[in-house]
Amino acid sequence: MYVCLCVGVTSHTVADAVADGACTTNDVAQKCGAGADCGRCRRSIRAIIESADPSVDSSGGPSVRRGRRPR
Ligand code: FES
Repeated sequence: MYVCLCVGVTSHTVADAVADGACTTNDVAQKCGAGADCGRCRRSIRAIIESADPSVDSSGGPSVRRGRRPR
C-alpha cells in the first residue's frame, strides 16, 4: 500500500527504513523520502514506526518513552 503519494513510497519501504534504524519521521524521510514533501503521510509513517516499537516517540522530537504524566 502506498503511504506517501508525493514520493510514491509504500508501507513496505517505510517498514524497511524503520528496520534499518529510522525511529522518527525525519529519519524515514532521510532514508526513503517519505514525508519530506507535503507531510500528509507523516501520521501513517508514525503508525508504522510505533507498530515496530510502541515505546518510540516518532514525532521527530527528542526520543522519550511514553507513560503516565506525573501529577
Ligand atoms: S504524501 Fe508524503 S510527503 Fe506528501
